[in-house]
Amino acid sequence: TAETPFVNEPFIDFNDAENKRAMKQALADVETQLGREYDLVIGGRRLKTDGKIVSINPARPTQIVGIHQRAEAELAGKAVAAALAAFPAWSRTPATERAALLFLAADLIRERKFEFCAWLTFEVGKNWGEADADVGETIDFLEFYGREALKLDAATTPIQFPGEHNQLRYIPLGVGAVIPPWNFPFAIMAGMTAAAIVCGNTVILKPSVDAPTIAAHFVSLLEEAGLPDGVVNLCQGEGPGFGSAVVAHPQTRFIAFTGSKAVGLEIHESAARTQPGQKFIKRTILEMGGKDAIIVAGDADLDAAIEGVVASAFGFNGQKCSACSRAIVDASIYDTFCDRLQARVDQIKTGDPAENVYTGPVISPKAYKKVLDSIEIGKDEGRLLNGGITIETPDGGYYISPTVIADVSPTARIAQEEIFGPVLAVIKSQSFDEALAIANNTEYGLTGSVYSSSREKLDRAREEFHVGNLYFNRKCTGAMVGAHPFGGFNMSGTDSKAGGPDYLLLFTQAKSIGEKI
Ligand code: NAD
Ligand code: ALA
Repeated sequence: TAETPFVNEPFIDFNDAENKRAMKQALADVETQLGREYDLVIGGRRLKTDGKIVSINPARPTQIVGIHQRAEAELAGKAVAAALAAFPAWSRTPATERAALLFLAADLIRERKFEFCAWLTFEVGKNWGEADADVGETIDFLEFYGREALKLDAATTPIQFPGEHNQLRYIPLGVGAVIPPWNFPFAIMAGMTAAAIVCGNTVILKPSVDAPTIAAHFVSLLEEAGLPDGVVNLCQGEGPGFGSAVVAHPQTRFIAFTGSKAVGLEIHESAARTQPGQKFIKRTILEMGGKDAIIVAGDADLDAAIEGVVASAFGFNGQKCSACSRAIVDASIYDTFCDRLQARVDQIKTGDPAENVYTGPVISPKAYKKVLDSIEIGKDEGRLLNGGITIETPDGGYYISPTVIADVSPTARIAQEEIFGPVLAVIKSQSFDEALAIANNTEYGLTGSVYSSSREKLDRAREEFHVGNLYFNRKCTGAMVGAHPFGGFNMSGTDSKAGGPDYLLLFTQAKSIGEKI
């Protein structure tokens, strides 16, 4: 609750026998619930449509995780109307009550942690640790934004003008569209939604078609916690259909989006186009892709660097915006690094995430094809050290073995384009200067890391490595709410810094009031 200071949710220790048992039990329980049908929720009413979205388990594509209604573009107006109808009451609900909803939701998720982990394992193929990190981050966002909303509510002007009483109030924007990606389908989906509503906005939540079920469970949980009708309207739908219609709607005041660069730019453009009857400039909060690099300097601790590169590149199969897809390695240690990296990656096990294997399947047939196409390009652009092949299983999961391609030119396609899969390019640098230049030489700027034992090199990187989230002597994934506010530079986004002290400002507008006394 608000009285206790924020602390990050501890990770579950799956080596503990009781936790292991609890996770297996949750997987068994959730498995009995797979294949159920879920409704849209608009204005608190359940709704069915003719079209359906079928969510499948990427490790076992014949297994249906959930069947969801497919909202078409025509439903955008109805969803926006429901959110608009809920706005007057919700925007005037005291911040304490709105924050209390988030705190209660966090408590309920905490009680059902293993169950939510199991849903993530089935729906997107996260192993236990990756699922737990996603659930933990969800709890963190709820706890953090609840407290931030109370702070914002108590904000005052820095200066009082003599003879006046001056006030600065942060009021909500209105109706927003929340459009999350599939890869942190709980944390990012819930985080953007929670930030929007705790400030008094009402939203249309359009989850990814690859992860609709986790969102449906979140909305049910919010209802259990007392969410009033119409504050979060759950509309499962395709991006180009329903998604783009709600973005373009003249009464959509803001769009909170996390996803690919291409879609982010499309939303940016669409939101900039004023619609007939539109009375405001739409605000966009866009967090997009990355081509993140880890620089390994000649004086780095090689064991630590290899572990950090492997965790960053292959944790959840590289399907993180923060994933390391370029290792930039100093020429003096390059050959040793490549040999040892190759040996280390050979040890990675790939298999069913329900059995807690290190890497699982990629999310979909579309991703499978895209990653394999990128690997084919990469084979022509460098020397294949590991992987480059698919792994066939009786269940037909979308498995691709962890792939490392060395001797890649900094300007090669696999060194420039986001692949979003288990593919790492290794690039040789002749000096630290050159390493920094290579690191900065993409259109992105999301995360980055430097392994070095030299204070001077780290200080230079602090100034010159142009990314939103920079790390030293650690992996470049796994940002923690509060400690590592998250968001990227350049084509990686609008640098909104989710989980940071400025995030909620993006969901509000400030009203300055001066009264003569
Ligand atoms: P995506 O861009 O394909 O989809 C994201 C969301 O946008 C989905 O809900 C999708 O349905 C919707 N969408 C698609 N087309 C749309 C349109 N025309 N109008 C409105 N909505 C539309 O991304 P994805 O495959 O779900 O996620 C992977 C991408 O997300 C990667 O590029 C990754 O780097 C990025 N990502 C970024 C961050 C970050 O914080 N910067 C975090 C996670 C993922
Ligand atoms: N916030 C996630 C990470 O840092 C994407 O890995």
